[in-house]
Amino acid sequence: MIEFDDVTKQYPDGTVAVGNLSLTIPTGAITVFVGPSGCGKTTSLRMINRMIDPTSGTIRIDGKDVTAQDPALLRRSIGYVIQHAGLFPHRTVVDNVATVPVLTGLSRKEARKRAYELLERVGLTTGMADRYPVQLSGGQQQRVGVARALAADPPVMLMDEPFSAVDPVVRDSLQQEFLRLQGELGKTIVMVTHDIDEAIKLGDNVAVFAEGGRLAQLAGPEDLLANPADDFVAGFVGRDRGFRGLSFAASADLPVEPVDTEVEGLRLAVDDAGRPTGWTGHGRALPTEGSWSAGDSLRAVTDLAILSPAGAAVRVDADGRADGLVRHATVAEFVRVRQLERLSGTDG
Ligand SMILES: Nc1ncnc2c1ncn2[C@@H]1O[C@H](COP(=O)(O)OP(=O)(O)OP(=O)(O)O)[C@@H](O)[C@H]1O
Ligand SMILES: [Mg+2]
Repeated sequence: MIEFDDVTKQYPDGTVAVGNLSLTIPTGAITVFVGPSGCGKTTSLRMINRMIDPTSGTIRIDGKDVTAQDPALLRRSIGYVIQHAGLFPHRTVVDNVATVPVLTGLSRKEARKRAYELLERVGLTTGMADRYPVQLSGGQQQRVGVARALAADPPVMLMDEPFSAVDPVVRDSLQQEFLRLQGELGKTIVMVTHDIDEAIKLGDNVAVFAEGGRLAQLAGPEDLLANPADDFVAGFVGRDRGFRGLSFAASADLPVEPVDTEVEGLRLAVDDAGRPTGWTGHGRALPTEGSWSAGDSLRAVTDLAILSPAGAAVRVDADGRADGLVRHATVAEFVRVRQLERLSGTDG
C-alpha cells in the first residue's frame, strides 16, 4: 500500500504542482492518475520514488516514509516506465533490460538469461533482443521499457504515459498485453495518463486530478462513469459516459426471445448446426453483423442491436448455435430499469 498523506509540492518559482494530496493506493492493483495537462500527475508519481521530494506531507510505502529511505535503493525496488521508453541507445535491447539485475548483484550471464525471459514475456523475440533500440518500432521499444522495469522484480511499478506515444492500434494491443501480464504478476502499479478511456480500461482505481494537483475523485472505473463527484469530473469523463458505462454491465440477465421469432418482418436463418447465417425477409438475405454470448457486456449487445438490420442482437451458446434474440427496445428497457434501481440504491 502506498499512502499520500497531505502531500504538497511547491516548485521554487511558486507553482503549486500538488496541493494537500491525500490518497491510498492499494497493493497488487492498478491505480491510474488521470487529469488534464499540468495538473500534477507526473510530479505526484515522481514523489513516490523520490525523483522529487515533497515540500510538505508524507508518502509511505507499506508504512515506511519514503524520505527515510536511501533514494538509490528505493528506486531499485520500484520499476519506472516512461513515455518514450527511455532506453540506452548504445546498448542492445537485452543489455538494456539486464542493467538493473546486474546492479542488484546478478552475474552478467544470469542477468542476460533473465532479460531474455522477460523480453519473451512482453512479446519480443530473441532476434529483437540482440538489436539496438533504434532498430525496433515505437511499440516494441515500449515493451522493452516494461521488461526493463520488471527486471528487478519490483513489487511497485510507476508508469508515466507508457502507451501514449504509439498509434491507437498498437496502443490497444500493448494495453491488452499489459493487463494479461498484470493478471499474472499482480504488481502494485501507479500509471499516469491524460486519456480517460485508457484510465477506465486499465484502472482498478482511477484518481482524477484537477488543476493544482487536487484530487477530484478516486473511484473504480464503473463508479466513476456512473457517479462523477462534480461537474469537473463529469466533464472530464466525457459525454458518452452512460454508454461507456455499459461496458461494465453484464448481459447475462437480459431476457431473450426464441430464435424463430419474426422481428420487423425478418427471420433468423441458421445452418445445419444451428449457427446464425443471416436474416431473411422482404425478399432479401441480410447479414447478422455478429452475435453475442452471455459473458458479453451490455455495451456489446447494444452495439450489435444497433448494427442488426432487424434491430435485434443474436445470442449464441458456447458452440456458436443461436439460442436467443434480444431487441434493441428490450435492451433499452433493461438498461432503464437497471439505472433506476442503481439511482434508488436498491442494488447496494
Ligand atoms: N521543475 C519545475 N519547476 C516549476 N514548475 C514545474 C516544474 N515541473 C513541473 N512544474 C509545474 O507543475 C505543474 C504540474 O506539472 P506535472 O508535470 O506534474 O503535470 P502533469 O499532470 O504530469 O502534466 P502532463 O499531463 O502535461 O504531463 C505544471 O504547472 C508544471 O508547469
Ligand atoms: Mg506528466
